[in-house]
Amino acid sequence: PDLFHHSICGLYTSTSLFPVLWYQTHQYPYGIVLDAGSSRTTVYVYEWPAEKENDTGVVSQTFKCDVKGPGISSYEHNTGALAKPLDECLNKVKERIPVHLHKSTSIYLGATAGMRLLRLQNETAANEVLASIQNYFRAQPFQFRGANIITGPEEGVYGWITANYLMELRFSGKSEGEKETIGALDLGGASTQISFIPEDSQENFNNTMQVKLYGYDYNVYTHSFQCYGRDEAEKRLLALLLQSGISSSVDNPCYPRNYETTLTVKYFCGSLCTQSLRPANYYPNQSVIFHGTGDPGLCQEMVSLLFNFTTCRNQEDCPFNGIHQPKVKGNFVAFSGFYYTINALNLTGHFSLADFNSSMWFFCSQSWAQLQFMLPKSEEIYARSYCFSANFIYYLLVHGYNFDAENWPQIHFQKEVGNSSIAWSLGYMLSLTNMIPAEGKLIQLPLKPSLFAGLLIFLAVLALKCQLVTYILFQLYWIF
Ligand SMILES: *[C@@H]1O[C@H](CO)[C@@H](O)[C@H](O)[C@H]1NC(C)=O
Ligand SMILES: *[C@@H]1O[C@H](CO)[C@@H](O)[C@H](O)[C@H]1NC(C)=O
Ligand SMILES: *[C@@H]1O[C@H](CO)[C@@H](O)[C@H](O)[C@H]1NC(C)=O
Ligand SMILES: *[C@@H]1O[C@H](CO)[C@@H](O)[C@H](O)[C@H]1NC(C)=O
Repeated sequence: PDLFHHSICGLYTSTSLFPVLWYQTHQYPYGIVLDAGSSRTTVYVYEWPAEKENDTGVVSQTFKCDVKGPGISSYEHNTGALAKPLDECLNKVKERIPVHLHKSTSIYLGATAGMRLLRLQNETAANEVLASIQNYFRAQPFQFRGANIITGPEEGVYGWITANYLMELRFSGKSEGEKETIGALDLGGASTQISFIPEDSQENFNNTMQVKLYGYDYNVYTHSFQCYGRDEAEKRLLALLLQSGISSSVDNPCYPRNYETTLTVKYFCGSLCTQSLRPANYYPNQSVIFHGTGDPGLCQEMVSLLFNFTTCRNQEDCPFNGIHQPKVKGNFVAFSGFYYTINALNLTGHFSLADFNSSMWFFCSQSWAQLQFMLPKSEEIYARSYCFSANFIYYLLVHGYNFDAENWPQIHFQKEVGNSSIAWSLGYMLSLTNMIPAEGKLIQLPLKPSLFAGLLIFLAVLALKCQLVTYILFQLYWIF
């Protein structure tokens, strides 16, 4: 049987027959997702099959474009200005996708915590933003599949699906028996998500979502902490610092030594996340000078105030803010804001908690002049905040989610697999197109009845068997 598999695999890979047939019968080789985050919008173009040589039907990212300007929720009073920066990216997308496929290419927009907050604050304004986006996309050549605000748990689970889809197909594919999954840690601008399979996945947590992946049913624990995204958390810190000071000049231990910036109170107190922290005399346009003191110890103390531990009776299964969470288990991948922060500290992949702490301490002790030299490519608004982000990540992971020195190295800080970003957007598209690999089928092809259909299924089954062999080989490789 091994010989049979190998010769068939060889035939199939050398002739590339399958991808050719597949391409002809498959109507939609591209999909576009816009991740409308709180601080920016990112356009992703996905294509399948990705690697015709080695794999079949692996959806992979072929193009990514950061839309200039802020997130869509910032256009609340200026929806007319949404189109221009979107055009810049979409024009590039149009060049990437053959013109005759534009009409059949689906385009999805999912908005996250920035829009969730705006909707809570002013639903009319949020609807106006979505409506103007809908108008914009209706005039585009692609097949527009809607602009939606996705919920926090959805965002968490789609991130988990992406992580496991990308990792499973390329690294630790196990064909039979128990499937090991990887947990997902996502840090956005306005919210942060944790998603993983707990030790006892049958236990009924409020925050469990059922997901079917590779033929297995998973109960994914997921939670999204609103206002615990990087930007909103920092705004809350600035609001707290202003409360403790009284003058129009405030020391910030998380900003680098000798750094100074002037911000309006509205900049950090205008958000829903900081509404309760507004000073008694709230003058939105009043200016406050923040003066960096680069004091890592004091910074950590201030960051601890962003977490409410008093609402939990039992620290074990309720880390903070009264949210029930099972004990973290297995490997995790920490992407987006987690990755960018760790990267600024010159760390990557996985490392000990002690290494993280010493890098953070070193980084936070640098003066602004030194930091600018160390991070020549970083914009000021990012560079000044990495020390805060690092402390926030430390507090969230260690005191929030209860990672300790022992399981900290199981967190892999990573932003992509191959060229595909680890982001909820891929899982979102896979789910909406019903493309999550199910049992017996690696992908669900929207087949058209044709002369080739029978042959195609036959080849798909063969391809799957070959994949199985590859999976087992990979598994052995990883074990030894
Ligand atoms: C296919 O796999 C081989 C061996 O693992 C590798 O060297 C090659 O780069 C792969 N091709 C692509 C397109 O990834
Ligand atoms: C909500 O947004 C709408 C549209 O932008 C605006 O006209 C209205 O004044 C806003 N309401 C509040 C309470 O801010
Ligand atoms: C923590 O939460 C409790 C209950 O919601 C609340 O009474 C308390 O004021 C909160 N503490 C802080 C520091 O926010
Ligand atoms: C990171 O490493 C580079 C190259 O070794 C160095 O120039 C830079 O200063 C380091 N940055 C930090 C934050 O340690």
